[in-house]
Amino acid sequence: MSALQMLVEEQKHSLDEPDRLRDRIEALDRLETYFPDERGAGETDIHRRARAIQVRLETLNHTLYQTVRCEIQRGGGRDSLLRWATASNQAARAVGQVSGEGYDYLDELVSGILQFENPDTVAELAAEMVFYQPTPARHVFDLIDRIALTERDVLVDLGSGLGHVPLLAAICTNARCIGIELELAYVDCARRSAKTLNLPRVTFIQQDARATDFSIGTVFFLYTPFTGTIMRTVLDALRVEAARRAIRVCAFGPCTPTIAGEPWLQAAGPLETDRVAIFHSRG
Ligand SMILES: C[S@@+](CC[C@H](N)C(=O)[O-])C[C@H]1O[C@@H](n2cnc3c(N)ncnc32)[C@H](O)[C@@H]1O
Repeated sequence: MSALQMLVEEQKHSLDEPDRLRDRIEALDRLETYFPDERGAGETDIHRRARAIQVRLETLNHTLYQTVRCEIQRGGGRDSLLRWATASNQAARAVGQVSGEGYDYLDELVSGILQFENPDTVAELAAEMVFYQPTPARHVFDLIDRIALTERDVLVDLGSGLGHVPLLAAICTNARCIGIELELAYVDCARRSAKTLNLPRVTFIQQDARATDFSIGTVFFLYTPFTGTIMRTVLDALRVEAARRAIRVCAFGPCTPTIAGEPWLQAAGPLETDRVAIFHSRG
């Protein structure tokens, strides 16, 4: 499709209804690809029109994010967030994309709502520690849906980064949620997000995951935060904890086969590639 045709198409189909978030985000992606910002003498009329559409769509999205933020701040937000998550998962399933570690428009929505200020500099990680990468939002919502957390649960994300998992779980459930993260800049950022969204049930602790007091949690989440001997130390500590009481361990990404191989854990169902796996400790 020519750039001009595309502009005409964007204007013909109104993307203004709040529910058309996905279409707006996809349109913004296309506008960015075909019409890179060329302000100044070289700017053509078509570029100016593209920029005007871009500003309008971004403003509509910003208004939607602000609405959901206000609902969360008032102690709600759960239903509207889950409504988007369900719509995204249904759309992804329809085109066979529910698995995979790629990101989609739901991640844009979550970033717009949580409004992280991504830190410019972070410390270099030691061997066996895995750099920050968030769990795609559709997998977080899929997990929240499947683990059915109650007010008696405490979800602990080991290596929580900017805190998506504890923050989204705190918004969508009545459980207490804790993020354990080594990088102070990420912890500060996650704490700011929890504070501005008025989420008192979520806490972020800056420490090495090996130093965790594992007695605090009922459900532990790991998106491959570390490997090798660090993973071994943490799994051994979880095994000791599981000998005292029932716990659940949820795994995403390359660490899943390692965790699936632990004899003290039992998968809650068949393991699906690229979907969060849920394990129960054996009684
Ligand atoms: C792949 S990211 C997962 C982020 C987050 N759990 C999520 O799913 O969105 C791994 C995170 O683990 C952190 N990390 C790595 N080694 C760690 C350790 N020994 N203790 C605590 N955090 C660690 C990294 O800084 C990074 O933020």
